[in-house]
Amino acid sequence: MCGIVAYSGYRKATEVLVQGLSRLEYRGYDSSGLCVWDGKQISLRKKVGRIDQLSKLLAAQPVDGAVGISHTRWATHGEPTDANAHPHFDQSGKLALVHNGVIENYQQLKEKLMAEGHEFKSQTDTEVLAHLVGKCYEEQKGAQSPLTAAIKAALVQVTGTYGIAVMHEDHPGVIVGARRGSPLIVGVGKKEYFLASDVTALVAYTHDVIYLNDFDIVEISGAGYHIDSLTQAVNEHHITTVDWDADAASRGAFPHFMLKEIFEQPQSIQNAIRGRLSTEEATAHFGGLNLEPRELRQINRILVTACGTAMHAGMVGEYLIEEHARIPVEVEFASELRYRNSPMDENTAVFVVSQSGETADSLAAMREVKRKGHRALGICNVVGSTIARESDGGIFLHAGPEVGVAATKSFTSQATIFLMLSLYFGRLRHLSPVVGMRILKAIQDLPSKIQEVLDTNEGIRLVAEKYAGAKSMLFLGRQANYPIAMEGALKLKEISYIHAEAYPSAELKHGVIALISPELPTLVICPQDGVYEKNISNIQEVKARKGPVIAVATAGDTHIKKMVDDVIYVPEVDPCVQPILNAIPLQLFAYHIAVKLGCDVDKPRNLAKSVTVE
Ligand code: M6R
Repeated sequence: MCGIVAYSGYRKATEVLVQGLSRLEYRGYDSSGLCVWDGKQISLRKKVGRIDQLSKLLAAQPVDGAVGISHTRWATHGEPTDANAHPHFDQSGKLALVHNGVIENYQQLKEKLMAEGHEFKSQTDTEVLAHLVGKCYEEQKGAQSPLTAAIKAALVQVTGTYGIAVMHEDHPGVIVGARRGSPLIVGVGKKEYFLASDVTALVAYTHDVIYLNDFDIVEISGAGYHIDSLTQAVNEHHITTVDWDADAASRGAFPHFMLKEIFEQPQSIQNAIRGRLSTEEATAHFGGLNLEPRELRQINRILVTACGTAMHAGMVGEYLIEEHARIPVEVEFASELRYRNSPMDENTAVFVVSQSGETADSLAAMREVKRKGHRALGICNVVGSTIARESDGGIFLHAGPEVGVAATKSFTSQATIFLMLSLYFGRLRHLSPVVGMRILKAIQDLPSKIQEVLDTNEGIRLVAEKYAGAKSMLFLGRQANYPIAMEGALKLKEISYIHAEAYPSAELKHGVIALISPELPTLVICPQDGVYEKNISNIQEVKARKGPVIAVATAGDTHIKKMVDDVIYVPEVDPCVQPILNAIPLQLFAYHIAVKLGCDVDKPRNLAKSVTVE
């Protein structure tokens, strides 16, 4: 949700900023812009559209300098236009600011500033913040660090969320950043320092980063950095070394990040499993839960909260944990949990699932749970993210950077973590070593089974392309394959803009069946499991009404082939990993349809990878 990159050092700032923005484009891509100190003044370049539009503008109107701030926008206040693109200046025209987040009281602030003679060029809340900081700067001119003092004075008047970077002509070389609710990271180089919303923008230059906390305010220049806090007297920070390099966040030979990330799944699952399975004890282990086995045994209810794809992974977890550990599990949208009064007691464990670890609703739900004194455990991919840092313990996916807006490898890793949790909780209770070993073995085999599905990509493409003309689609599945159907429908919606709905297969006859027609394809997840015959009946119901059916079925199932229009086969595996495996063809199905339709797969319209606004 908007990306910020700022730089102070010795390199060409425009190159650092544009390259960093390209890495952050997944956070927002309706306009972008930058300001660079050119030795005489702060020069502004900004443009509606993708970052290549900004690059074209810079090619026509270059700007030279070694200090600058930049932004890629996902519009909240004001539509995507050149005027609404960041950076924004204050009234004096000497202070420039970029912002990620939402200033909730911007209207009141704007009216007050207008009454004092301030004139605005955009409809954004950000320009109001720039003017407010500028006004405070005039009042703080005598202070030791007037720009930092002005930002502090402005931010105490603001309600809402922000990650900001600010520069002022009176202080060439200096950039001040601050955060509340929107991520901001300091990159520590040699005689060069950076600010960015995400480490992906920095790894080409430095692997040493500092994750700022809410209410931190940081000043960087080519000479160093200084971190202060709006709220705390003592504020400790550590440099963390990022253990992956720029290649991990680039597409390589793949045409899209989404496809690359789908194909990375044998490896990302392997990374999720590594060091966490014990064949001796027929169980899983997690180092970061920060809970004793005795405390874990006392857990009698699990609440999972998340958004979007991460919530679907939680739903897979619900089926698996209840099946293997007999612990009641509830899954709640984070956006709902944060505003409801869900009953919890001291034996309820709350898992917050988030790839980015920055999703505003998930973070707010976690804070609400913690405020009530409950323990919140994170399942995150991004190390150093806010949810990872603020949770009481948790589990990392170790899936590597996920850049495609459509979540793929993070989903299967999250579901695999839940499967391992179900094994762990089960083995702490009644689950026998024999059953434990069966589950463990199935988990160990999962990466190679996923590879087998990926090897059939070409066949999946041919099937998918047949359905690219559909206006709407249904996805059906039972039990843990129901959230897989939901995930398949979400993938199709978000990247191909084809309407799709998911239902538990048996719900078809309770209303949805009215939609069935030759124009509405139905994808049914129908492995040879305990509910196979039931699914077959549902397929018959659709076929009887001339609805086209695509089945995701178990390899060797020749019976189903005679009944449906198309079959995508997946290898026969233990039922506990079947849903995870079934997610792969659904990802590829959506991907190939989107490509066929000419959609921008990695940057679907209206979306952003990390939703850091409410
Ligand atoms: O970073 P998170 O896992 O917290 O993100 C949650 C959702 O915004 C995310 O899964 C979203 O639904 C994806 N775009 C789906 O592909």
